[in-house]
Order: sequence, then structure tokens, then C-alpha cells
Amino acid sequence: MAVSTHPLRALRWDGRRLWILDQTLLPGREAWLELTGAADTAAAIRRLAVRGAPLIGIVAAYGVAMEVAHQPGLGALERATGELRDARPTAVNLAWAVDRVHAAGLGAGPATLAAAVRAEAQAIHAEEDAASAAIAAAGADLLAGARRLMTICNTGALAAGGDGSALAIALELHRRSGVEVLACETRPLLQGARLTVWELARHGVPHELLVDGAAAGLLRRGAADAVVVGCDRVAANGDVANKVGTYGLALAARPAGVPFVVAGPTSSIDVALPDGDGIEIEERDGGEVRGFGEAMVTLPGTPVRNPAFDVTPAGLITALVTERGVAAPPSAESLRGLLT
Ligand code: MRU
Repeated sequence: MAVSTHPLRALRWDGRRLWILDQTLLPGREAWLELTGAADTAAAIRRLAVRGAPLIGIVAAYGVAMEVAHQPGLGALERATGELRDARPTAVNLAWAVDRVHAAGLGAGPATLAAAVRAEAQAIHAEEDAASAAIAAAGADLLAGARRLMTICNTGALAAGGDGSALAIALELHRRSGVEVLACETRPLLQGARLTVWELARHGVPHELLVDGAAAGLLRRGAADAVVVGCDRVAANGDVANKVGTYGLALAARPAGVPFVVAGPTSSIDVALPDGDGIEIEERDGGEVRGFGEAMVTLPGTPVRNPAFDVTPAGLITALVTERGVAAPPSAESLRGLLT
């Protein structure tokens, strides 16, 4: 794949209409899908055509904006808000963004409701874009000297407004001093194998793909200088929900003496939840585990557990990198310091 110098972006917004890069088709095909309102936007979020905590917040905000542009009024605002807020439960960015556009709509008069919601969605998009850049810089400062990073899932431009969170740090280190990325494939939907590898190849970042089960042994053997992951929700005490398998990486990193760094915008912090036990973990359809596309990997009908996320206790996390600074380690006190 040729190295591209153009920034990769997973969505296009022209002020009225929204297109997303359909991530279910990557890396095989780059197809842009036009979304028109709340229902198709919620469906795209549910089937992971668009995914990643910050990105689903931005896209949901535009979903509300498009709905109220078609049918200005409080009825459409309430309906769109309800439909999109619950499309996926774990990433708090989704509810956070939808609540923001909802409040903007409520605060406007009937004549300006649609414009107010659109302006708020655009503001969220711009803020999340800027947050990615700040996270990349802060994370690269923190990890200066690290040559080999292990990561899971996809936390790049396909997951956020700008270059992403954990993967944006890897890209920044690549630009500054060079880095190699060990990408966990991320069963069952292979966001690492399909999306992270695609982004890294596009940017010319040296990388190797590994099966998730290889990660712990490789960490023990000193294969990575740091583990860097994203987050879907950070509780007030610093516990972090992220893609299933993240907790296992943290458990393996600690005895191996490898720093375990979480990166994400402050829109991922949920101060209303005292700790990670209160985070709702999305359980997805067993079919995602039984097979991929047409290919079955087990017997049809095999009973399956398919939690999409897990929670890593704050005590296993070396640092949380946000656009407002670094909490090292994350705790109730250090998070309060970041947010005030
Ligand atoms: O199910 P997904 O692909 O939406 O899960 C995404 C993750 O777990 C990411 O690590 C997280 O959203 C952070 S993205 C910057």
C-alpha cells in the first residue's frame, strides 16, 4: 500500500449531509455511505459501520442535527435523541454528545432549533478533532523513547474526529523518532487486523499483527516498551472500559514491568459513575463469534458469550492521557484535577 500524506478521516460533513466510511467493508473496500437522519445513523452505529467512542458521539450528534433539519421541532428532537443515545451502551461519548445537542436544541426557540443543534454538532466535531491532536502530542511526550508499542482494537482516525487517541500517539511518535506497533487482531470483529493495520500501512508505520492470545507471552518476553490503548468510558476513580481483551493486556503488562497507558478525550470520562463496576458492558450477538462473514469458525448454534468490552481497574493503569493533560496514575483526585 502506498504511504499517504493526506489525513485520513472517517466522516465527511458538508454542513447539511453526512457520509461515513463503511468500516465493515475495510480493508477490502473503501465505500462511503450517506446517512440522512436518526434511524439510519443509529443503525450504522449499531452494526459498527461507524465505531470508536469519540466518532460515534460525533456521528450521533450529526444524526440528531439531520433529523431536526428535516422536521424542525421538539418532537423530532426528542425522538432522535432517544433513538441515538441508546444505540450502543458502553462508550459514554455517545450519550454525552447526544445530550449536548439535545440541550442546545432545548435552549433555542422553534425558529432556531435546527440551526442550534447543527452548530452544536459541528462544535463537538471541532473539539474532538482538536482533542486528538492534543492527545497525540501529550502521549508522545510521555512515551518519548519508546520504540515498540502494543495496542488493541482501532483507536485511530477511524475511531475519532481527528487522528484518534492511542493510535494518534503512535503516529506522532512515528513522525518524531520512529516506532513499531504490535497490533492485536481484536477478536471477534478484528478491528486491529482490519482497521489498525490498514491505518498503519497507510501511514507507513512499521507494524506486526498478532493474535490476541500471543500478547501476554510477548509482553513477558520484552517485546513492547509500552501498551497503549483507547477508552470507551472512564469512571470517576479512573477505572477504564475499553475493547474486550484490554484488561488481559493490563494484567500481563504489570508483572512484565511494561507501562500501560490509556488515551482518550475527556468526553470519555463519566464522573457520574464512582467506579468501573457501574459501566454497562455491551453484549453483542453470538453470531459475531461463531463466524466471520460466510466463514464459520465453530458449530452452528454453539452457545456464545460475546461481551464487547471489559473494565481495567485504575490500579493497573500507568497513565491516562487526555487533551487536558495526563493523569498518572488515574484516580479520583487526578481526574478531578484534569477536569477543573
Ligand atoms: O466496538 P468498537 O470498535 O467501537 O470499540 C472501540 C474501542 O474499544 C476503542 O478502543 C475505543 O472506542 C477508543 S477509540 C479512540
